[in-house]
Formats: sequence, C-alpha cells, structure tokens
Amino acid sequence: MKKVTVKKGKISRGNFIAFEGIDGSGKSTQIALLNNRLNKEGIYCYTTMEPTNSPIGSLIHQIMTGRVKTDNRVIAGLFVADRLDHLLNEVDGIVSKINEGTTVITDRYYFSSYAYHSVDMPMEWVIRANEQSSAILRPTITIFIDVKPDTAVERIAKNRFHQELFEKKSRLVKVRENYLKAFELLTKDEKYMIVDGNQSQEKIAEIVWDTVKGYFNL
Ligand code: ADP
Ligand code: TYD
Repeated sequence: MKKVTVKKGKISRGNFIAFEGIDGSGKSTQIALLNNRLNKEGIYCYTTMEPTNSPIGSLIHQIMTGRVKTDNRVIAGLFVADRLDHLLNEVDGIVSKINEGTTVITDRYYFSSYAYHSVDMPMEWVIRANEQSSAILRPTITIFIDVKPDTAVERIAKNRFHQELFEKKSRLVKVRENYLKAFELLTKDEKYMIVDGNQSQEKIAEIVWDTVKGYFNL
C-alpha cells in the first residue's frame, strides 16, 4: 500500500483531486473509475463530495429540495461555510488527511461555487468569498468534465424524475459558461484540465488517467 511515502523522515502530502462539471456530467462515474485505477496501483483514496453530509451540508440539501427557503447570497455563504468545515473539521477534515499523506478525491470544490453562484451574482464576489479555502488548499488538479448541457439533461432525465427540464437546461448552459470563464480567469493560479465529457466513460477515464498518473510518479 503506497498511501504514505516517507522521504528523509518527512511524510509527503497526499494529492488532492477535484472533479467538476455540470449536473449529470459524469463526475461520480469518473471518480469511481479513477479510485479503482489508483487502488490497483496500491494507492488508497478518501473520496468525498460537496455539499457535504455535515450539519451545514444538510441545511444546504434542505434548501435545494425546497424544504427551507432563503436568499441566493445566503446559499452562497453556506457553501463557503460547508467548504471550510470540509477542509478543517476535526473528525474527517480534508486538510489533516492530505497532511498525513492520504490522496483525496472530491466531487465538487470551489469551482462549483464560482460556476453556480455566478449565475445570480458577480463571479468576483464568489471568488473573494472563497479566498479562505483557496488559501488553505488548492487542488493538485481540478478535472472539469465538459459535457453538452443537452446531453447532461438527457442523462438526468433518464435516471431521475425531473420536471422543469427546460429551466434546468438554460441554467446549466450558464453554469457551463461560468466554469469556462472561471478557468480562464484563474489560469495562472490553478492547475486544471478540461476533458471532453461527450465521449465514452472508458475514453474519458483513459484521458484522466494519462494526466493523473504523473502526480503519483506512475
Ligand atoms: P454526476 O456525478 O456528474 O452528476 P454521474 O456520474 O452520476 O454524473 O452520471 C450521470 C448519468 O450519466 C449516470 O447515469 C451515468 O451512468 C451516465 N454517464 C456517465 N458518464 C457517461 C458517459 N461518458 N457517457 C454516457 N453516459 C454517462
Ligand atoms: P448534488 O445532488 O450533489 O448533485 P451532483 O450529483 O450534480 O453533484 O447537488 C449538488 C448541487 O449543488 C449541484 O446542482 C451544484 C450545486 N452546488 C452549488 O450551487 N454550489 C457549490 O458550491 C457546490 C459545491 C454545489
């Protein structure tokens, strides 16, 4: 098991890999495939997601399902708090795991905030609101699975019961544009790759692996 590499008495930090994409882009699928591939190499990962299942995350879920109503700015703020808790909480915070040498793979991180909340407010505001998180932990790499909003909506419709698909699609068009805008804006600060998500799961996994294996000296 290659979880911890000891070099000159020092534990090297674990890699932190963030998957991003619009709803239905195939993030969970690719995370499972990458996790399996890394396991085969003897590298065991902690996989996680945002919104989290913490008390702050469950409040977010209640808002998203319409059980609790609030302003969009409040929602953006809750995601900021959920993310900081995801990083720092004493039970299973990501920062300690990375410092102990564990590889962490997350389904969504701050680029989700940049893309989703900038539909309703200025992206600069959202980026500033997340400055604590980016100062604490930037991903080794962010992998954006770029899928056509039409395709994503078709996939969602196949698997879940969804009304308002039209509204959903026009929102996802904006979210996708915001992702691309955020990557361009932060190109100097962030390491990221954009993968064409309209290909087969296997092909996408191969492209992801070709890049990711380099971070593990494989
Ligand atoms: P996300 O986690 O981004 O919402 P999922 O991984 O759950 O996306 O994928 C959404 C749906 O699309 C699932 O039913 C999954 O099996 C399917 N899917 C994922 N990747 C592909 C792909 N490359 N081609 C076709 N269907 C896919
Ligand atoms: P979820 O049901 O986990 O969907 P998915 O499988 O697509 O990831 O819901 C996550 C939703 O929350 C998704 O629509 C994106 C949104 N979101 C934000 O609006 N801001 C954020 O910061 C994050 C992390 C997610």
